[in-house]
Amino acid sequence: MSDWAGSRPAGAEDDPTGAAGPTDATGPRPVPQLGSIAPYVMGAAPRADEPRGAKLSSNENPFGPSPLGIAAAVAALPDVNRYPVDPGGLRARIAAHHGVEPANVVTGAGSDEVINLVCAVYLEPGRRMIVADPPYGIHRIAGLLSGAELVRVPVVDWTHDLPSMAAAARSGDVVAVTNPHNPTGTAVRPDALRGLLATVPRDCVVLVDEAYHEYVDDPLRATAVEMLDLHPGLIVSRTFSKVYGLAGLRAGYGIGRPETLEPLDRVRAPANVNAIALAAAAAALDDRDHVARTVAATRDGRRRLEETCTRLGLEHVPSQANFVLVRDRDGWPEALGRDGISVRPGANLGVPGWHRVTIGTPAEMDRVIAILELLFG
Ligand SMILES: Cc1ncc(COP(=O)(O)O)c(C=O)c1O
Repeated sequence: MSDWAGSRPAGAEDDPTGAAGPTDATGPRPVPQLGSIAPYVMGAAPRADEPRGAKLSSNENPFGPSPLGIAAAVAALPDVNRYPVDPGGLRARIAAHHGVEPANVVTGAGSDEVINLVCAVYLEPGRRMIVADPPYGIHRIAGLLSGAELVRVPVVDWTHDLPSMAAAARSGDVVAVTNPHNPTGTAVRPDALRGLLATVPRDCVVLVDEAYHEYVDDPLRATAVEMLDLHPGLIVSRTFSKVYGLAGLRAGYGIGRPETLEPLDRVRAPANVNAIALAAAAAALDDRDHVARTVAATRDGRRRLEETCTRLGLEHVPSQANFVLVRDRDGWPEALGRDGISVRPGANLGVPGWHRVTIGTPAEMDRVIAILELLFG
């Protein structure tokens, strides 16, 4: 019996030869590239027997969902016998939020769906998906599944090497830039991004994934939404899963030129974003208090964790996102785990020897810092 899920163990590396695929010809045959893809590994939940368990493994919002979003979700519930009709006008609200037209917006069941649509529509065997190494896992999987070749361009100082990525791009490729990046947390300079947009062939897609944009406090912070005039293939993806706290509902979107997004809109499932998610996301977009509280507390927790690492001599990557990548030493991830705090092994993210710590509530960060101080202080 063929067993695709087992053909690439969780956490394994991709196998470009595809040799791990099944050979049994009596059952259905998935596309050959499937055998080469190492599956995405979700962040682990904390130990079930630890009442103070803290999940710092999936870059979620520890402050909960937007209260306005929840109220809108509850109000939408009685109508779920109907297919979703975008009651809050989510697309229009997103467009207004960014100062663009509704035709510049495509919505998805999470930004991961937008990424999948981009790869389904713009890639095929013979084209390439150009990613940073280490890449964000869904860029890697969606690119490979489309039959494209995955071109990994190593990060320099943990940051995308945009000149080398631009130089690698050929006609018809998709170039994926994650800003800030997951798993490193680093942001790219706006002038470097403009340089990439000026350089890559006009028939490429440049996918700029801004899932963590709101957490950036670099004074040079810029969004690629303001760069739509620089490249016809620019698509910027955003999510309601992080700062808006709606990861479980699945809502995200892409912004680009209408002619670039139209193919995605044509083939997406017509009811791809469910009615609850549409209502909640539209309301959450206006929940300025929740966003401001989340951003302020997350930046503060990030600063405290980074200062602690520096003081204790723990190597870490300075972050612009809601997580920090910290080098393994003397079993600190296991020590957190014994106290019910789960963090993400870098081995699952292309950075073995490191763990990624999501910024939690102030109380959760107090516990993380206390454990690190006990070990290294
Ligand atoms: C860089 C990046 N893009 C996209 C996503 C997924 O977002 P969504 O929940 O909107 O699918 C994540 C989630 O961790 C991410 O890290």
